[in-house]
Amino acid sequence: MPRVLVTGGAGYIGSHTAHLLRSRDHHPVVVDDLSRGHAHNLDGLPFHRLNLRDTRALASLLKNEAIDAVIHFAAFIAVGESTRAPELYFANNTAGSFSLLEAMAEARISRLVFSSTAAVYGDPDAVPIPEHARIAPVSPYGESKVMVERALYWMDKFRGLRSIVLRYFNACGADPEFPLGEEHDPETHLIPLLLQAVLTGRPITIFGDDYPTPDGTCIRDYIHVRDLAEAHVLALDYLIAGGPSGAFNAGTGAGHSVRDVIRAVEDVTGAKVPYTIGPRRAGDPPSLVADSSALQRTLGWRPRYTSLHEIVDSAWRFARRSTTSPAE
Ligand code: UFG
Repeated sequence: MPRVLVTGGAGYIGSHTAHLLRSRDHHPVVVDDLSRGHAHNLDGLPFHRLNLRDTRALASLLKNEAIDAVIHFAAFIAVGESTRAPELYFANNTAGSFSLLEAMAEARISRLVFSSTAAVYGDPDAVPIPEHARIAPVSPYGESKVMVERALYWMDKFRGLRSIVLRYFNACGADPEFPLGEEHDPETHLIPLLLQAVLTGRPITIFGDDYPTPDGTCIRDYIHVRDLAEAHVLALDYLIAGGPSGAFNAGTGAGHSVRDVIRAVEDVTGAKVPYTIGPRRAGDPPSLVADSSALQRTLGWRPRYTSLHEIVDSAWRFARRSTTSPAE
């Protein structure tokens, strides 16, 4: 039973993956500083409260817990925030990851699955986006991840560190098997904000309807968090079986506009979404859709949630549950 350190395991995607690992006979050990994650997501998982920049403490923990491999989620993820305070992103995401790499080298751990993002591509020349597309982030958030991807290349070459980089598109939904869902504070993501608009009656602003897309709103690739968690387990098992390093897009390959998502929310909830049309949000590319054929080919991954309705339905069940029970 591999012992797996899950950094950021109290966060949204990290907690889904940690619970899936436990249900698959792996032994997840979570580290999280709880600056953005939630203790209630841990639900009995072995847990250490720690900031990744504490290299000494991290190295000791890796040795004491006899960790075999690491899945590294812990990061700040808000693109807008990263433009207002880039230093936070380089300190937390980049320096935090470099500290982890140092601690892993000291503890002689040579397998890592790393959370990266479609934001590494910036405003791509064409969609769907293959992994060999130009890496050209347009935000400090994207750059903070690119810098780690570059370090992983050299760590592979000269340190024998094998890593799988997963570049997420738009993670969303909630896994009905676990008591988990999306709870960012403040929330900036489209699906939870649309559901909140339905629940509260307060209108959401749509950021622009004059994009060069069929209905004028931005197109994104919405990937269910359970499918994303499955990709991590497959990546981990692949590395443990001796697989080489690689970087893969994690998306479904299907693009949906903001208006498509609004329609899906209205169908699922049976309510009208109150919204207004506002100006474009800085840094939003018109369309981001993954070519995820490499992930499917190499790791045998297949998205199970291919219907936007099903994805929205899972998020809706979680949103209703969390409005009736107090969150930490
Ligand atoms: N949107 C609105 N109104 C809102 C919120 C979002 O119209 O109140 C729109 C956005 O303009 C965008 C779409 O909904 O067109 C999706 O926006 P999200 O904020 O939910 O997600 P992003 O596509 O901006 O960002 C996601 C991840 C990032 C990642 C990025 C890759 O959250 O971490 O994809 O480009 F970097």
